[in-house]
Amino acid sequence: MTKNDLDQLSQIAQDAAKEAGVLLMKYSGKPAQVKTKASAADLVTEIDQASEEMIRKALDSHYPDFGFLGEEQGYVPSDTDYRWIVDPLDGTMNFVHGIPFFSISIGLEYKGELIMGLVYDPALKEMFAAVKGGGTTLNGERIQVSHTPTLDLSILSTGFSSHFRTQDEPYLGWFVHFERKCHAVRRMGSTALYLAYVAAGRMDGFYEMDLKSWDIAGGIVLVNEAGGMITNLNGGPVDLEDGELIASNGHIHATLISELEASRKSN
Ligand code: IPD
Ligand code: CA
Ligand code: CA
Repeated sequence: MTKNDLDQLSQIAQDAAKEAGVLLMKYSGKPAQVKTKASAADLVTEIDQASEEMIRKALDSHYPDFGFLGEEQGYVPSDTDYRWIVDPLDGTMNFVHGIPFFSISIGLEYKGELIMGLVYDPALKEMFAAVKGGGTTLNGERIQVSHTPTLDLSILSTGFSSHFRTQDEPYLGWFVHFERKCHAVRRMGSTALYLAYVAAGRMDGFYEMDLKSWDIAGGIVLVNEAGGMITNLNGGPVDLEDGELIASNGHIHATLISELEASRKSN
């Protein structure tokens, strides 16, 4: 695929996300059905499903041969090397309660490598988008990770696993540790948006475990293309299936990893 093809594909994915974003805003705070999935803190609504259906139809109409992995419908395989990875509503807990901090995340893989990503915040109408080798944009304007040089000057974000009720470590230990070591730690409820915020330089770093590929596929491309760094919790390459991720502006990355380890040892 040429750069032009990728840009065109990104535009189609952005249009699909914006269309689904209208639906999310219409029903924010008022879904008809709220069900639980893996735990009492893992929610799904009929709007999660409708959003995925809308995005899948829009992408299928242009790229009918591509594989599609969506949180709600699972994997539709294909004979091509392309696979969409879609979270149709990241931040369902916020959405259910009418808190306007949720997003749509779309990533595209080619032969296992992420080549396009976007995260759309329908409340602020902010579209974060990137294609491999093309930089990251926010509503069309180039963005970059922050220049914050050290952890003590940083603002971080994280999330707690949906299994937190029965297993609070290492999440609480890490949270307290970093709250004491940096400007602040935010826990706002949309991992895809945290990654977009790292890409935009609004946040300096992010760490979390127990994630799914659809939470992070779109955001990984944003951070990479904005000059940031992405690894697993040990500093190694990210495996989308592993569920753990650190994203940062690069400057604080090594310290983030060593402090995660130090916190684990002290607990
Ligand atoms: C959740 C959010 C949250 C993260 C959870 C995810 P969902 O996604 O990304 O920030 O901490 O692990 O499950 O369920 O709202 O799509
Ligand atoms: Ca999610
Ligand atoms: Ca979701």
